[in-house]
Amino acid sequence: MDKKTFYVTTPIYYPSGRFHIGTAYTTVLADSMKRYKAMRGYDTRFLTGLDEHGQKIQEIATKRGLTPQEHVDEMARDAKKLWEKMHIEYDDFIRTTEPRHEKVVAKIFDKMMDNGDIYLGMYEGWYCTPCESFFTETQLVDGKCPDCGREVKRMQEESYFFNMKKYQKKLEKFYEENPDFILPEFRKNEIFNNFIKPGLEDLCVSRTSFDWGIKVPKNPKHVIYVWLDALTNYISALGYGSEDETLFKKYWPADLQIVGKDIIRFHAIYWPIFLMALNLPLPKRLFAHNFIMMKDGKMSKSKGNIVYPELLIDRYGLDATKYFLLREMPYAQDGEFSPETFVERFNSDLCNDLGNLLNRTIAMVNKYFQGKVHGYKGRINEPDEEIEEFARKQIYEVEENIENMHIANSLAEIWNLISRTNKYIDETAPWVLAKEEQKEKLESVMYHLVENLRKVAILVKPFMPETSANILKQLGIQDEENVTWDSLKDYDKLKNIQVIEKGIPLFLRLDAEKEIDYIKQGMKG
Ligand code: MSP
Repeated sequence: MDKKTFYVTTPIYYPSGRFHIGTAYTTVLADSMKRYKAMRGYDTRFLTGLDEHGQKIQEIATKRGLTPQEHVDEMARDAKKLWEKMHIEYDDFIRTTEPRHEKVVAKIFDKMMDNGDIYLGMYEGWYCTPCESFFTETQLVDGKCPDCGREVKRMQEESYFFNMKKYQKKLEKFYEENPDFILPEFRKNEIFNNFIKPGLEDLCVSRTSFDWGIKVPKNPKHVIYVWLDALTNYISALGYGSEDETLFKKYWPADLQIVGKDIIRFHAIYWPIFLMALNLPLPKRLFAHNFIMMKDGKMSKSKGNIVYPELLIDRYGLDATKYFLLREMPYAQDGEFSPETFVERFNSDLCNDLGNLLNRTIAMVNKYFQGKVHGYKGRINEPDEEIEEFARKQIYEVEENIENMHIANSLAEIWNLISRTNKYIDETAPWVLAKEEQKEKLESVMYHLVENLRKVAILVKPFMPETSANILKQLGIQDEENVTWDSLKDYDKLKNIQVIEKGIPLFLRLDAEKEIDYIKQGMKG
């Protein structure tokens, strides 16, 4: 039988500058979901890429003295380098300037025109000549341009429009029939009540004021509006509309499209409608995450508070960086980055809780049994039964949380298992058992510790694959059948385990003051 498929996408990022930890967060989240689903037996596909057209990109390139193409080529190289450094396992990287994408967008535009979804009309608004931009009445600041503060003129421009109104009822029906389409739920309510219910406006889908974009095939003085161009990437990358639609047939509709809260409207309204116009199925789930904020608000160059992922990865490692991002971003609120919390999480969660559990376990297995754990002894010690049940419950909690995109919670549940296992050492007091020569009991404690660490290693694998491999290696657990997600349900299968002679710390404790200062300096650039 064919495996079930799982197609996950990130937004395609604007190549307008270096990627900060906010952008990295989206990508890490998608990567973790792909890894998780792969462990659950799915045939996965993960797409990311760059959104390379539009006026802004053209302006940035001009400022740098480059052609737009030269600029985006350079940015694409940098983006790929960063994802490689972060071990992001994407299957495809789409760039909207690639012919495979441009061809499909032009074709779709034509088709929409032929079907009467797109019509030529007049766009009217307030125009700022130096900024070459249109604004609506409400966007103006004191009746002036919101960008440069100069006078604006009432102007008209010929534009193509997409007939959104035609799809109003269909979209409403889709929302009613698919209450889980958008997570978190409050975002869905926001979109439905504030934007869909009051009535959709037709959308302007072409521009004549700049030319860095895909030309409207039948009227090349127009370029296609950047969002119609950009959203199409999710299907053009699968070969939709090309000679070979194998991937498209296999993976579409997407199972999970991850976006930031600022771009949910495009994905929750326009994207479904474009797909309806093409008679294509809609994505199964859209997840809108919040923002990583700083103490003083948004990250910005002018505030000098941008954190680039390299700053953290180069000094504290990839897994620690990913752990922080995923753990500190709540499901439905903004997360906050501060050097203090970063160092605190590193020292307490990674060094104290996880690192020490591994170290203590390895040291004791060596001290009491020459590094060997022969096999399961049953529930001999008083807390054995409870710790087994606790692990079972935690696995369920972790799965539930991941499936519902509560990623920070899923990590918190893994750490609950780690804490409970640390407590188990105190409860069973192996040093007393050793003194009293209670060999069986002592063996059982060692078994439960190694087994729980094995479980922890498997559970963290989607998020921290290197740490997972490191734990398993130190424990001497390498057999294929003991490292799968399915094997989490087992408790008694380990046999003839030989741990390494001396544990190697997973994470080295940080000197808090020094490292907080280091990160602060790094943020200044
Ligand atoms: N090009 C569009 C997306 C087109 S998708 C068809 C775009 N690009 S972007 O580069 O501006 O933003 C990309 C993503 O980064 C968005 O999902 C946005 O929400 C996310 N983030 C930008 N800053 C962020 C944080 N500070 N924190 C978390 N995510 C952030 O929009």
